[in-house]
Amino acid sequence: MGVIRLEPWGDEDLPLLRRLTGDPGMMEHLGGAESEAKLAERQARYTAPHDPAATGTFRVVDEASGEAAGWVGYWEHEWRGETVYEMGWSVLPDFQRRGIARAAALETIAVARAQQRHRWMHAFPSVANAASNAVCRAAGFSLLGEIDLEHPPGTTMRCNDWRLDLRG
Ligand SMILES: CC(C)(COP(=O)(O)OP(=O)(O)OC[C@H]1O[C@@H](n2cnc3c(N)ncnc32)[C@H](O)[C@@H]1OP(=O)(O)O)[C@@H](O)C(=O)NCCC(=O)NCCS
Repeated sequence: MGVIRLEPWGDEDLPLLRRLTGDPGMMEHLGGAESEAKLAERQARYTAPHDPAATGTFRVVDEASGEAAGWVGYWEHEWRGETVYEMGWSVLPDFQRRGIARAAALETIAVARAQQRHRWMHAFPSVANAASNAVCRAAGFSLLGEIDLEHPPGTTMRCNDWRLDLRG
């Protein structure tokens, strides 16, 4: 048995989303808590029919307790003239520091790799987000350098550009 298992994000997961992207503490490095309208929009996007070669969104289940511990996903992103994957992760406070984000990232990378569509997986955590930068390192990404991203719209955030070769 692994640390986690991934399950497709479902209609019943809105309360979990609210505890993740709707929570100010969880969103400290991501531009602050999302509004109910934004959560509803995100939930609709996550549960819409989709092409797994373009995007994947998963509920992360802690194998030890069987409880939902967080979210992980990948999506397509235009980056310096080519389409790459970008990924993100979020783990509830009670489940942090147990290797759950690392395990979820590794499984998601395997899912994206199996699509055989894009070579590069990127992640762009804020330079101030120590935990997320550590997840990138632990999951095998290489640090390319710092960049400025506009996130949320109207705000410039200094981020690290981490990249992983899905063909490597
Ligand atoms: C980032 C986040 C998902 C990490 O989840 P987690 O399950 O606690 O991470 P893991 O236990 O898998 O830890 C992975 C690595 O990060 C390190 N780490 C975790 N939290 C850390 C912290 N607060 N400070 C420094 N390092 C940290 C771990 O030591 C581990 O490194 P190691 O493999 O070298 O020992 C979690 O803190 C979170 O949800 N934060 C809020 C949302 C967020 O910022 N998401 C990222 C958006 S870019």
